[in-house]
Amino acid sequence: MERIIILDFGSQVTQVIGRRVRELNVYCEIFPFNKFPFENAETKSIPKDVKGVIFSGSPYSVRDAGSPFADVNDFVGKLPILGICYGAQLIAQNGGGLVEASQTREYGRAELTVANPSEAIFKDVPQKSQVWMSHGDSITRLPEGAELIASTPTVKNAAYKIPSRGIYAFQFHPEVFHTQFGGIMLRNFVMGVCGCKGDWTTESFIETTVKQLKEKLGEDEVILGLSGGVDSSVAAVLLNKAIGQRLHCIFVDNGLLRKNEFEDVMAQYKGMGLNVIGVRAADRFLEALKGISEPEKKRKAIGKTFIEVFDAEAQKITNAKWLAQGTIYPDVIESSSVKGPSATIKSHHNVGGLPEKMNLKIVEPLRSLFKDEVRRTGRALGIKRELISRHPFPGPGLGIRVLGEVTAEKLQILKEADAIFINNLRTYMTELPPASNGYAAEEYTGSKNLIPLYDAIWQAGTILLPVRSVGVMGDERTYEYTIALRAVVSNDGMTADWVHLPYDFLAKVSNEIINKVKGVNRVCYDISSKPPATIEWE
Ligand code: XMP
Repeated sequence: MERIIILDFGSQVTQVIGRRVRELNVYCEIFPFNKFPFENAETKSIPKDVKGVIFSGSPYSVRDAGSPFADVNDFVGKLPILGICYGAQLIAQNGGGLVEASQTREYGRAELTVANPSEAIFKDVPQKSQVWMSHGDSITRLPEGAELIASTPTVKNAAYKIPSRGIYAFQFHPEVFHTQFGGIMLRNFVMGVCGCKGDWTTESFIETTVKQLKEKLGEDEVILGLSGGVDSSVAAVLLNKAIGQRLHCIFVDNGLLRKNEFEDVMAQYKGMGLNVIGVRAADRFLEALKGISEPEKKRKAIGKTFIEVFDAEAQKITNAKWLAQGTIYPDVIESSSVKGPSATIKSHHNVGGLPEKMNLKIVEPLRSLFKDEVRRTGRALGIKRELISRHPFPGPGLGIRVLGEVTAEKLQILKEADAIFINNLRTYMTELPPASNGYAAEEYTGSKNLIPLYDAIWQAGTILLPVRSVGVMGDERTYEYTIALRAVVSNDGMTADWVHLPYDFLAKVSNEIINKVKGVNRVCYDISSKPPATIEWE
């Protein structure tokens, strides 16, 4: 196998470099700047499968004493290097160049002019093209042995190379969308300079992973918690392919799932040949939530009950040695990133403490994949579109969408309203661009530009507000609950924009909810983005 390593100096867009490289079917991994996976920590030898290294950008300045620092000499001459922004400045400073503060921070589009059209890194890039700049410092003197290869009107040293050392360096960001030919420049580095073949495909990922899982797990029994979501489902199917019925899946009905969800998803799992145990435990969760209205306390109560229920069921599976989890790459990077795990705004860990309690070894077959790669893998494994393209749904479920104390009555109201909203999203056709679930419009409708609204958005849900208001129905005064609708677009859930849902769609949903759901007399639409709001209300 071949891979590219990206050393992360803390830039916001480091993950995007990873995405771009993987789009070339080249496997790549991101490590914090000081954690390069040397084969031998003392001799600093580079593993043979690493074909090149990319230094990312950074919010820091190379001129600051405390800035993230990797010893460029550990890599120079050993393998091709591409420095981006901060990375380019670090290489310059290390090699005898000069980096100085600019008068103004340069941010935005700029026109790049390539000095020599036959330059390998700019193959298939026009002599003039748009790039994206975001930097405060500038390289005012190139390092020794360097040649200038491109400039913009305001930044002379916009790109350079040190041919004797296999180094390329860009002051601009090739990974971001606004750099018109950035993907081609990265291709030229990865495939041209580093000589990668690009044979890392979904199919090859499945083949190697299944083989590795077989070797790792041998004859052991494995337990996996299914959630109905994409990640755990794809993990289950991969493991099932490797060890068959020795994979024991547990799917807990916590009573906080959507209307009919438990039954529907169980049927789908069984149809996929998974060995799945469904556990009905709605009453236990409701009991645990009784009298609690503070969001974090509710999350903790749900998490704790989940562990108890799951553990009791898992105990019945004798000889289990492993707990499988659907952890994906962004979770891995996040917890080892330069900036450290991000501050806990909400406790997201549905199963926190589970592995320790159960004393099982952990296996995580999707650890190296981004979300859209998980979806693609799921498709290649033959998992149905309905499951793969499902919106994310929080572990604590409707428990955090009934604001305040959760009761059976309120849950019932919310489930009915939610089902109406979601069903309408599935049947309303739109020309909005599809989300990144990987399905082309043709696959839905045979039409090139119409897809269900559901698939054009990242996530949608309903929230039951803990207030009642006055209304009138027929001749009678009502005093009932309010439902808030939420629909957002997002790439990763970290930031999100509210969706401009069509008015006729909103009108239909509002009418249907108020007419059909007893206990609701008002519907609102949440028009807040994240940040400063969050996707969930609790
Ligand atoms: P927020 O509300 O933080 O949500 O903007 C971001 C994304 O995370 C989901 N979410 C959760 N997922 N367990 C989960 O598995 C949780 O406790 C949890 N809380 C929020 C949320 O639905 C959105 O996709």
